[in-house]
Amino acid sequence: MGASIVGAPLASTEGGSPSGGEQQHFRMKSFAFQLRTQVVFGAGAIRRLGELAIESGFRRTLLVADQGLVASGHVDEALSPLHLAGVEVFRFHDFEVNPDTRMVEVGRSVATPLKIDSIIGLGGGSSMDCAKGINFLLTNGGRMQDYWGYGKATRPMLPMIAVPTTAGTGSEAQSYALVSDVQSHVKMACGDAKATFRVAVLDPALTVSQPHAITATSGFDALAHAVETYVTTNRNPFSEVFSREAWRLLETNYERVLQRPDDLVARGAMQLGAFFAGAAIENSMLGATHACANPLTARYGAAHGAAIAMLLPSVVRWNGPVVGERYGELTASGVGNGLNDLAPAEKLARRLEQLAEAAGLRGGLQAAGVKRDDLPLLAAEAAKQWTGTFNPRPFDQAGAMEVYQQAF
Ligand SMILES: [Fe+2]
Repeated sequence: MGASIVGAPLASTEGGSPSGGEQQHFRMKSFAFQLRTQVVFGAGAIRRLGELAIESGFRRTLLVADQGLVASGHVDEALSPLHLAGVEVFRFHDFEVNPDTRMVEVGRSVATPLKIDSIIGLGGGSSMDCAKGINFLLTNGGRMQDYWGYGKATRPMLPMIAVPTTAGTGSEAQSYALVSDVQSHVKMACGDAKATFRVAVLDPALTVSQPHAITATSGFDALAHAVETYVTTNRNPFSEVFSREAWRLLETNYERVLQRPDDLVARGAMQLGAFFAGAAIENSMLGATHACANPLTARYGAAHGAAIAMLLPSVVRWNGPVVGERYGELTASGVGNGLNDLAPAEKLARRLEQLAEAAGLRGGLQAAGVKRDDLPLLAAEAAKQWTGTFNPRPFDQAGAMEVYQQAF
C-alpha cells in the first residue's frame, strides 16, 4: 500500500484481469470490522481458564473435546482450573475428526437435559466446529442444514471459550462451524456472529503434544489461510494486516516446529499465526485451494491439510497472472534461498513446495490415490464450493480442472 488512492468500488478493481501495480494502490472499499474474541496468549494460559469462565458468567458448562484430548491429558488440564473456580463441567467426547451432522445432533441430545449456560471447545478444529454446531442446535433448534450460510440463527446463543491444542484451522477466531452433511458428505460452513468465541485461550504449551503429522498438516493449512486470504476478492485492509503477519509468523516458524517440536517460542508463533490467519478468513474468506481440497476430503478422505499442501502451489501458479504482484509482497522479505530470480507467483509456489517437502507433504494427487478419470467429477464439485467464489481469478469447472491437472 502506498501513496496513491484509487477510489473505485471493489467490483471495478476485481474480476480477473491482470492487476499490474495493484500493490501500490490503496483500494477504497467499504467494510466493517470487529474482533469479537478476547485473546489470552501465553505458555500456561490454560491455568486461567477457570477465572476466564467465571468472568464470562459460566456456571454450568459443556466441555467439548475429542477422545484424543482425554488421552493426552489436556482434558484434565482444563478441568482442574474450572473445578477450582467452582464451574460445574459436563463433558462431550463422542465425535471424530471432521464432525458431521449426526455427531453434532448427538451432542445436542446430550446437552439438552443438562441446562448448561456455556460451552468450551478444547482441541483442534473438530472440537471447535463441534462446539459451535451444538450451540446452534441447542439454542436455535432445527438441523445443522438450517444454518448453512451466514446469520441464520435468530435467537441468542450460549457464550463459548475456545482452547485450541493445534495450530491450524484458526476456528477459534471465526464465527463459522464446518460440519459435514452425513448423507451428502458436503462440508457446510454455518456462520453467525453469535457463534464467535467470547474468549480464545492460546497456550502454546498445549500444542507441543501434537503428533508430527498434525503439526505438519494443520500448520500447512494455516499457511494456506494466510496466502489465500491475502488475495481474495473479499479482502479488506484489516484482513490484509492479519494475512501478512500470519504469513510472516508461519513461514518463518513452520520448518522450526517440524524440526524442534519442543520449541515453545516457535510453537507460540505458529499458534498466533494460525489465529491471525483465522481472523483474516473471518474478514476475507478463502479461495480456489480450499474449493479444490474439499472434494478430495469428501471423496478420498484426504486430510484437509494434506490436500491443501498438494494444491496450494498449483493455485498460486494459476492465480499468478492476476495477483502475482500481491504474492510478491509476501515473498519480498527474503523468502526461500535460491528463488530470487523467479517471478513472484513462481517464487511463492516454489517456497510452498519447499515447506511441503520439509513436512513430508509433497506429492501429487495421483500419489494420494486420485484417478485421472475422476478429475472432471472432482472439478464439477470444486466449482460448486462457495469458497471458490472469492478467488481472485474467476474460478469455475475449467479452472478447477487446470488446477487438478497441474497438481496431479
Ligand atoms: Fe483450511
